[in-house]
Amino acid sequence: MKLIRTLFLVSAWGVAATAAAAASSDDGTVTLRVMVDQPGAKIDRNIFGQFAEHLGRGVYEGIWVGPDSPIANTRGIRNDVVAALKELHVPNVRWPGGCFADEYHWRKGIGPLAQRPATLNPNWGGVIEPNTFGTHEFMDFVQQIGAEAYLSVNVGSGTPQESADWLEYMTTSQPSALATERLRNGRPEPFGVSFLGIGNESWGCGGSMTPDYYVSQLRIYARYSRNYNAGHPMRKIAVGPDGADTGYTEAVMKAWQGRNWSWDFDGLSLHSYTVGKWPPTYRATGFGEAEYAQLIEATLRMEGLIRTHGAIMDKYDPDKKVSLVVDEWGAWLAPTPGTKEGFLEQQNSQRDAIIAALNFNTFARHADRVRMANIAQMINVLQAMILTKDEKIVLTPTYHVHRMYVPFQDATFVPVVFAAGSYVHENVTLPRIDAISARDKNGKLWVALTNIDPRRRVQIDLAAAGAKRAAGQTLSAPAIDSVNTFDAPATVAPKPIAAKSAKGRLVLELAPQSITVVALDQ
Ligand code: AHR
Repeated sequence: MKLIRTLFLVSAWGVAATAAAAASSDDGTVTLRVMVDQPGAKIDRNIFGQFAEHLGRGVYEGIWVGPDSPIANTRGIRNDVVAALKELHVPNVRWPGGCFADEYHWRKGIGPLAQRPATLNPNWGGVIEPNTFGTHEFMDFVQQIGAEAYLSVNVGSGTPQESADWLEYMTTSQPSALATERLRNGRPEPFGVSFLGIGNESWGCGGSMTPDYYVSQLRIYARYSRNYNAGHPMRKIAVGPDGADTGYTEAVMKAWQGRNWSWDFDGLSLHSYTVGKWPPTYRATGFGEAEYAQLIEATLRMEGLIRTHGAIMDKYDPDKKVSLVVDEWGAWLAPTPGTKEGFLEQQNSQRDAIIAALNFNTFARHADRVRMANIAQMINVLQAMILTKDEKIVLTPTYHVHRMYVPFQDATFVPVVFAAGSYVHENVTLPRIDAISARDKNGKLWVALTNIDPRRRVQIDLAAAGAKRAAGQTLSAPAIDSVNTFDAPATVAPKPIAAKSAKGRLVLELAPQSITVVALDQ
C-alpha cells in the first residue's frame, strides 16, 4: 500500500503532480520520479556566480595580499584562494560592489601600485581603501580562476562620462588616449567585460533614487557605457527590486518595453538576503533548532519573490528576454564577536550549506527566467566560500555545496515529482525534502537532494528514474551549527555516497540536515 503525503507535493512547472505519482511507501521511503521526457530550460552556469566587494577582508587579505607578501601569490593574488576557487568553476565574479561601487572611481585604481591614492571606504567601517586592487588586478584575478567579469559602474556618485571612459579604457583596441594609457599600464589587448551592472541598489545606498529617477539615469548610462570589444559581448544589468518591493520592477521593466535603438539592457537585478530580522541578529554558530527552522523558512521565501517579480516581468517581457539576476543573496547573520564593525564577518555552518542548496534549487526551477545569481560574498564576508587568517584558509560548508553542484552548470533542468513530507518545529512547518534533477552536456542525469529535517534520516527511492546505480557525494554534519575552523577544517566535508538497485528499488539514505548530489547510471 502506498501512503500519500500531500502537505508538500513538489513538482516542476508544467508537470501535473498527481497524488499517485508522488508517494511514499509504508517504511517512509520517498519515491522520486524524474520526468526525463519533459526537459526544461538550461540551468545557466551563471547562477553559480559570486560577489567580491571592497568590504572588510573580502578583497584585501581574502584575494589580494600584494606581490611582496610572504603568502604565496601570483602578481599579488593569493595562490591558495585561486586554487580553491578553480575547483568551483566560478562562472562570474561581481565587483567592486555593492554599495562600494557607487563611490568607486576607477581611475584611482590604475597605474603603478605605489602611486595609487589612499581613499576612504565610508560604507564599510570607514577604513582606508588603498586602491591597490583595481581594474587590472581584478581582471587578472578572474582570469586566474577562469571566471568572467561582472563590473558595476558608479551611478550614485559618478557620471556617465566616468563610466563611458572606464569602458573605453578596458575594451577598445583602437589607439585612443585611454587605450594607450591601458597599454602603458601593462595591458595592450582589450579586456573582456561580460556583464555590466548599471548601479547598485539605487533605491538605497546607491543614491536613494525613486524608480522613475533611476530609469532616467539608466537610459543615459545604458546608452554611453559602450563595449568596444566586438569579440567579447557584454550584457547590461539594471537595478531591480529590493526584496518584495515591486516599484523598481514595474518601472524598469515598463521602460524596457518602451526601449528604442539607443539603449537596452539584458538583466534585472534582485537583491534578497536570508536575514530573519533586521538588523541581522541570528547567530552564525551556537544556535538552536528554532533559529535553524526560522532561517530555512526565511530562505524559502526566495521562491515567492521570484514568482512575484517574474510575473511582472512576464507582463512586459513575455518572451523572457530579460534575465532576473539575483546578484546578491545569502545568509546575513550577526557578525563574529570581536570582528571590526562594518566588516560583516560571520562563520558558516551546515545551515548555510542547506541555505545554499535550497537557493540553487529555487533558481534552477526558474531557469527560464533566473539566468544569473551571485552569492554574497566570496571570501571572509557574509555567506563566504572561504575564510582566511594570515596564511591559512578554510573551506566552508557553502564552498562544498558549490563544488557538489558543479555538474548542474549549463545542464538541462529535468522536473522531479516527489512527496516532500513535512518537518515541523514549534510554529514553523517546512518541506522535509527538496530535490532537483538535470541532464548535463554529456547526457548524464544528476539529482540533488536536501534533507532539511535535522532529526530524521530519509530514504529516497530513485528506481523510477530507470537507473541501476547512483553515486556521488553527500554533505552532512554532526550538528546543524557545525562549522569548519582553522584548527578543524574538515568537520563538514563531502563524503562519497552510492547505491545499487536491488529488488526494483534504488534507495539512498539521506542523513539528517544533509545535501546529496548523485549521478544516475543505467
Ligand atoms: O553585500 C553587502 C551589501 O549588501 C552590499 O554592498 C549592498 O549592495 C547590499 O545592501
